[in-house]
Amino acid sequence: MALQRVGVVGFGLMGHGIAQVAAQAGYQVIVRETEQRFIDAGFKRVDASLDRMVKGGRVAEAEAKTARGRIETTTEVKALRDCQLVIEAITEDLALKKTLYRELDAICPPATIFASNTSSMTIAELAASTKRPDRFAGLHFFNPVQVMKLVEIVRAITTSDETIGTLREFTAKIGKTGVVCKDTPGFIVNRLLIPYLNAAIRALEEGVATPEEIDEAVKLGLGYPMGPFTLLDYVGLDTQYHASNVLYDEFKRPDQAPPPLLKRMVLAGHHGRKSGRGFYQYDEKGERKK
Ligand code: CAA
Repeated sequence: MALQRVGVVGFGLMGHGIAQVAAQAGYQVIVRETEQRFIDAGFKRVDASLDRMVKGGRVAEAEAKTARGRIETTTEVKALRDCQLVIEAITEDLALKKTLYRELDAICPPATIFASNTSSMTIAELAASTKRPDRFAGLHFFNPVQVMKLVEIVRAITTSDETIGTLREFTAKIGKTGVVCKDTPGFIVNRLLIPYLNAAIRALEEGVATPEEIDEAVKLGLGYPMGPFTLLDYVGLDTQYHASNVLYDEFKRPDQAPPPLLKRMVLAGHHGRKSGRGFYQYDEKGERKK
């Protein structure tokens, strides 16, 4: 199916990046947020990212301006009715997502494909809240979306081959590598990443070394771009906690269970960079305090 108009629901951490890369690839994009202030915040992120790309010489200024102009916004779900693909990137709340999908299902033509950016929910369950479970899949992006090359294309037991084919084409056109995987908790990356990050927290609990030392060791010893504590603060401790619980609920493997320190930090509101404090502390611009 030829895609021209892509809907994105949610203009937050992931949604703004998805909307931006789709617009940069030439798609007409319409983003739905619940309130104008979230639209303004999303555009602030898009502008900062495009600015970085222009300054780094990766994108021409005129090209950035054209891409920015391709992003329309709305607070109305019904404004997404002409999209051939709708990507949902809202809060990880099952009831909210199901309500949204029911609404979208009622207004979008039968051929429109729905894709969820969820990192923790069962795609088949979300698909079952619509009358198009064959035109429903997961499209899992990585943060920062503008830089990370991978998209997991998640095939639910109901997803058709045609839908997977269209999503493969879309993923390639936005300059990403799509890897198709099963609808199973954590998909590929989080299934491996979550136990690794939990192991780092347990090492800290056991006094193996400080967060700075563990980060330095992993960066230099494994060649990872970020150490585990920098990454935990970057993706959010609340996200790690939620994803750990989802994996543990399904498989009951001890390495997937959230470590006590993670739970306590989340309950204390230390969610990482976005809350100003996680394993490190951050200023209002999100820069790490020395
Ligand atoms: N928009 C545009 N460009 C960006 C950007 C953004 N939001 N963020 C970074 N960049 C660019 C920078 O401008 C820079 O490019 P130039 O050199 O051309 O200016 C380049 O990326 C590198 O950035 P930095 O120099 O600031 O720093 P860095 O080299 O450490 O790279 C990073 C930053 C890309 C984030 C890198 O540290 C990294 O890859 N970290 C690991 C991130 C990761 O693992 N993400 C997955 C998290 S898991 C997840 O998302 C899934 C889930 O379900 C939880």
